Amino acid sequence: MKRKVYLETFGCQMNELDSELVTGQLRALGYHFTGDPDAADVVLYNTCSVREHAEQKVWSRLGELRVRKRQQPGLVVGVLGCMAERDGTALIKRMPVVDVLCGPAELDKLPALLDNAFRTRAALLADEVDHGRAATTSASAVALAGNASRRSGTLAAAEDSLEMLDLSRSLRIGDEGPKTSAYVRITRGCNKFCTYCVVPFTRGAEVHRPPDHIVEECKRLADAGVVEVTLLGQTVNHYRFEHGAAVTVNGVTQPQKGRSYTGGHRRDPFSGESTTTFADLLARIHDEVPAIQRLRFVTSYPRDFGDDCLEVIRDHPRICRYLHVPGQSGSDRILKLMNRGYTVGEYLEFLDRARAFLHQPEVGRPLTIAGDIIVGFPTETDEDFAETVSLVRRARYKNCFIFKYSPRPGTTAFDRLVDDVPDDVKRRRNNELLAIQSDISDEVSREQIGRTVDVFVEGVSRREAKRQVRDKCSGQGTVGLTIGGRELGGSACAIDIEDDVASPGPMQLSGRTDGDLIVFFEAKEPERWIGRIVPVRIDRAERLSLHGVPVSNP
Ligand code: 5AD
Ligand code: SF4
Repeated sequence: MKRKVYLETFGCQMNELDSELVTGQLRALGYHFTGDPDAADVVLYNTCSVREHAEQKVWSRLGELRVRKRQQPGLVVGVLGCMAERDGTALIKRMPVVDVLCGPAELDKLPALLDNAFRTRAALLADEVDHGRAATTSASAVALAGNASRRSGTLAAAEDSLEMLDLSRSLRIGDEGPKTSAYVRITRGCNKFCTYCVVPFTRGAEVHRPPDHIVEECKRLADAGVVEVTLLGQTVNHYRFEHGAAVTVNGVTQPQKGRSYTGGHRRDPFSGESTTTFADLLARIHDEVPAIQRLRFVTSYPRDFGDDCLEVIRDHPRICRYLHVPGQSGSDRILKLMNRGYTVGEYLEFLDRARAFLHQPEVGRPLTIAGDIIVGFPTETDEDFAETVSLVRRARYKNCFIFKYSPRPGTTAFDRLVDDVPDDVKRRRNNELLAIQSDISDEVSREQIGRTVDVFVEGVSRREAKRQVRDKCSGQGTVGLTIGGRELGGSACAIDIEDDVASPGPMQLSGRTDGDLIVFFEAKEPERWIGRIVPVRIDRAERLSLHGVPVSNP
């Protein structure tokens, strides 16, 4: 029987990558995927626990499934990711509709868990038929790292099989068509323990993947047509691999199993250890995988960002001049309570240093910086907030993600500090900062007018897709738009523009600059442009987007 899976992802890019790996793994085992939850035999939610709001969405989805499961008792429901890890079996107690729980460090075990769940449900249903009673007992399949994820001794074995999940990444082209952009994990987990954050508890200790594995993965992606790679880590610039180790855990190297390594690393003059630093890794990927035309990385930690990294970014043209480096607050007192490990002065000093190395708008290579800010952290006063406002003005972010503090059980801030900033104050501060950042984003966009920037063309703009759908498929509800087999959104009725000789006119395409600014331009024959990098002269700026004219054809 072909099992159909519906998988919905909440939260960050790390989760998007996890979902992609899970999809590849299950597809290879014969599962099919559907975008329609009602048509699925398996409903999976890959969840996020960073803020309460994200968790609430999942609770309400699970609530809706209760009724459905009564009508479709064979349905298997799985909660993956951070909520599974954080709530553990308490989640099943609250929502007995859940059959499978799988933490983010256990995703390699998901196929076995699903198998188990199917078998158990089948047995329960058979039992129900035999005895004429309802199968109320929900037997569950559970894989969670528990506290083990922070015990380095036991981690090596677990990490090995998790490493296999990244390594065996399926490059089978999915329903969405060929991919030109991909995420590659370089570090799992986090060791920072910012007092508000659940990540160190749900994703476990910081573990760096072997550089050979990372480079190999990039090569395979490039061979499959990927031209843009984003390296992922919670504190990506902390990447450091000690050779002779299978994985590096908490600074403790685990024994390696006969892997030899060639080039791209240095020998530490003090310890004699051979190490690949983040700067080495960037240079290696850039040099060894020239087919990757854009190399980015997120998220950077503002401390420990050496000049060596900035020099590598400056000297390697295909590494994007884009940093996502959260400041979190503009008040030294709050930063200390957050356990961020730097002062506002040190943070701004880093931004200045990064700009001194990398901001070269005169040669068409500006540096853009994105940030994260939390407002309403416990004890935050109007004065603290005023300092955050001045940080945001001074930082001149291209964009900044602003969050209202959300107390997370299990974190130090939750245990030790009262969530004493009222929600309306949080909301007011959030809105004020959004308005200030919006003006700054506007200015950063307007600075691009008159410049020619390289644009990585991602697809037909959403506005264009809607327009095409309206013109061609009126009255048919949601419509999918595909170009050369590439899906551009929607479902139900697909229009393939390539086949549609009746619409040879220009279409609005969208893409991004190396600094992650969104650019729109008009062109005919979209399939020739998509997935390519083309120079576009910017003649207009609007809030968060730029409009221009291509200066050459692909
Ligand atoms: N409340 C609000 N925002 C949070 N973040 C992390 N934890 C919390 C929390 N408890 C934000 C931080 C981080 C981003 C991913 O989410 O700004 O950089
Ligand atoms: Fe959370 Fe801080 Fe680690 Fe980021 S660096 S994942 S905010 S603990």
